Amino acid sequence: MTRSVFITGGATGIGRATALLFARQGYFVGAYDIDEARLDILNGDIKAVGGRGVVGHLDVTDADEVSQRLGEFHAAAGGRLDVLINNAGLLNAGRFEDIPLDVHRREIEVNVKGVVNGLHRAFPFLKSTPGAVVVNLASASAIYGQAELANYSATKFFVRAITEALNLEWGRHGIRVIDMWPLYVNTAMTRGVKTGTTDSLGIRLTAEDIAENILAAVDPALPRKALRQVHFPVGVQAKALAAGARFSPAWLTRLVNKRLAHQ
Ligand SMILES: NC(=O)c1ccc[n+]([C@@H]2O[C@H](COP(=O)([O-])OP(=O)(O)OC[C@H]3O[C@@H](n4cnc5c(N)ncnc54)[C@H](O)[C@@H]3O)[C@@H](O)[C@H]2O)c1
Repeated sequence: MTRSVFITGGATGIGRATALLFARQGYFVGAYDIDEARLDILNGDIKAVGGRGVVGHLDVTDADEVSQRLGEFHAAAGGRLDVLINNAGLLNAGRFEDIPLDVHRREIEVNVKGVVNGLHRAFPFLKSTPGAVVVNLASASAIYGQAELANYSATKFFVRAITEALNLEWGRHGIRVIDMWPLYVNTAMTRGVKTGTTDSLGIRLTAEDIAENILAAVDPALPRKALRQVHFPVGVQAKALAAGARFSPAWLTRLVNKRLAHQ
């Protein structure tokens, strides 16, 4: 039996690194994106590492196209959807009022509605695949609202909440729903981004770091499995921030975030 993984936003960055890593692990990989030129490059690279899979156009904001691609992928993968990775996302940094309203709205369309589309339309395929896992790309900005990333951070709180809720709700169907909380990753998304927290914390993670953490989270070691971990902070800094927010009083968490964001 070959396991299969469907990745949105797979053409570049974390999605691409994850597609290649899962391909090397023997998964049948589906990588989807609006960037077809980069998907073609990825397709060649998947084959070059001896992997198998398909790539195709997908705009995650279009629920009908999501259904179409999922149906095609499910058939090509031999009637399985083992892992769904809701990865496509946008990030706009800057003062909230300086970013045009339609740019904020587009970020919500992709980061929020795109994830809802993926979850809703994939459900029948996940339900019929024993041991299916959903990995949503949240962010360390889902730990505390981030200055200069207010709207982005809010979209990632949405991802965090829907992950927690469906992790509970879909347990009865044997579907595990988890999310990743990386801090800044060196991809196109963060290129040229300069905020208080990129300044204080730096951009230290690589797309490959996140891919490895996704793979480990999909197949966790026994202790983690027993603990039913839902959120996976990635990197030392995100782990420290997540632990700090959980164990510190609210005023201290706010103060730390204010200082880190240079506000
Ligand atoms: N880079 C970071 O610092 C960081 C940190 C934490 C979480 N994340 C999250 O990880 C995910 C991937 O980020 P990345 O750093 O690889 O970004 P990236 O910009 O390198 O890649 C994002 C991909 O999503 C695709 N995309 C955008 N809109 C789309 C749409 N409507 N439909 C389908 N595909 C679309 C883009 O074409 C691109 O290939 C995002 O959800 C992001 O929010 C990133």
